[in-house]
Amino acid sequence: MCANILAAVAWPYANGPRHIGHVSGFGVPSDVFARFMRMSGHNVLMVSGSDCHGTAISVKADQEGLTAQECAEKYHRIIAEDLQGLGLSYDLYTHTMTDNHAQVVQEVFRTLYRNGYLVKKAEMGAFEPATGRTLPDRYIEGTCPHCGYDDARGDQCDNCGRQLDPADLISPRSKTTGATPEFRQTEHFFLDLPELAEALTEWIDTRHDWRPNVLKFSHNLLEELRPRAITRDLDWGIPVPVEGWESDHMKSIYVWFDAVIGYLSASIEWARRSGNPDAWKAFWTGGNEKSYYFMGKDNIVFHSVIWPGILLGVNGEGARDGQPSEQLGTLDLPTEVVSSEFLTMSGSKVSNSRGATIFVGDFLRDFGPDALRYFIAVAGPENQDTDFTWDEFVRRVNFELANEWGNLVNRSISMAHKNCGQIPAAGELTDADRELLEASRRAFDTVGDHLERARFKAAITEAMRIVGLANAYISAQEPWKLKDDPARRDTVLHVALQVVSDCNTLLTPFMPHAAQKVFEAMGGQGVWAAQPQMVEVSENDHSYPVLQGDYTVERARWASEPIAVGTPLAKPSPIFRKLDAKLAETGPEWAPIAHD
Ligand code: MF3
Ligand code: ZN
Repeated sequence: MCANILAAVAWPYANGPRHIGHVSGFGVPSDVFARFMRMSGHNVLMVSGSDCHGTAISVKADQEGLTAQECAEKYHRIIAEDLQGLGLSYDLYTHTMTDNHAQVVQEVFRTLYRNGYLVKKAEMGAFEPATGRTLPDRYIEGTCPHCGYDDARGDQCDNCGRQLDPADLISPRSKTTGATPEFRQTEHFFLDLPELAEALTEWIDTRHDWRPNVLKFSHNLLEELRPRAITRDLDWGIPVPVEGWESDHMKSIYVWFDAVIGYLSASIEWARRSGNPDAWKAFWTGGNEKSYYFMGKDNIVFHSVIWPGILLGVNGEGARDGQPSEQLGTLDLPTEVVSSEFLTMSGSKVSNSRGATIFVGDFLRDFGPDALRYFIAVAGPENQDTDFTWDEFVRRVNFELANEWGNLVNRSISMAHKNCGQIPAAGELTDADRELLEASRRAFDTVGDHLERARFKAAITEAMRIVGLANAYISAQEPWKLKDDPARRDTVLHVALQVVSDCNTLLTPFMPHAAQKVFEAMGGQGVWAAQPQMVEVSENDHSYPVLQGDYTVERARWASEPIAVGTPLAKPSPIFRKLDAKLAETGPEWAPIAHD
């Protein structure tokens, strides 16, 4: 049964290169999932882009002496290169500065307004005195009124843990300029979440299969819903489509409101680019498709409450009723919000106390994409915060990838190449042969079940267990001792190669680059696992890259496919390079481990 599946991947801020913690939250999990779903014969649409508006970008731009747009364009390009390098198979990776995005965001805003889910209210706000921009709570620092800690933030005190209001701080100052913030009345639009609370609760009560951390967190959020400001006093963002506001360049739509709508606008952009402008609807309307949202845990509230709330309001499905937008129709809510916990990097401290940041670009240059993908899948922060250490990375790469998987591939193909020059035929099978073949065939169900439920760690662990069984089988059968019984030797090699082929399929969503190589080493031709392409496009005289891909060309299918007897085999070269054990102690020079 072929389903339409939307893989909605969180949008990284275009205010710097991304580190491995970021891609362990949104990147690798979403790609493993999308690749598996495509291999299973589903129609997948995987979209995302760079999150380019808001304070984070304008602050960074000021620091670098760039305009906000220049800054966002610069980092969008770097991030897109990194995501492509990782092999993340987006159907479209775009950004939020497109005309299309602004139009869709404004249409959503207008529809919510018309349906009665936006209210205008005046409140006290904090401002950067020199620019008149909103100073978000976390950009204000001062002395904690409870414990006297000097570096408390406007949203909370890291010392005593209390939640704060910027107005509570003693001697407040702007984190970026040091200036004393100005506090004054300002008017904003609020998303009226209390009017959506009942519909939201009803919806979330139908969600049972989410990861427990996400479900529990979301239930708690629904307990106390308050109206939430969705505009800001900021000159960098999408104009508020309301008379009197639209021309006010110091008012814009709140970056989070604009970003979550990106999933929809990017789907619409993808449909246009692919020449079938209505194609996005199959992934958003009608109630038969499924949508999975991937992110780190700091994004949960926006995906399990705010975004579904926006969708209910736009559909006219809250307490105030209303009509869906004519342009957009009735939009479906998320099937599942898949969130990871945090990957911390304290094990590789450089000089400062916060720890070294391990950037994706550096990592890819030195170790390639699949080692990182493997590490994140098998040892990443799927269910709890997890510290990245070089020691564990080296161990996983050397003992699991190189010694276990790489070695299985290498010795099976080498022996077959040397003795037969091709994939040999099997004679009569023994119990041991049948058991191994049966185990690897069954793994398509067990590993597939885990993947369908976004249980990546369990999935890859099960796939690697089959690799272990295959290695144990070869060691027990000792085909190198069967010179006098070539028929039996060929049978053992055939069985081993069949299981190598199966394991390669099972591991393809996790390690698509290595999978392509193994496929070729087995004599396969063509594209086994397709990769995203970077395409330069332009709009309003700005040229920028997008990621796209044609994944229909790939051969990989989620099934045990019988290997073709007689396929010529060449001498294989190693798939995984072993890492120098020293790396575990020193770290690479761009993220050295401090020994103190
Ligand atoms: N830019 C945000 C972050 O990096 C994520 C935005 S996800 C979206 O935390 F849903 F809003 F797009
Ligand atoms: Zn405190």
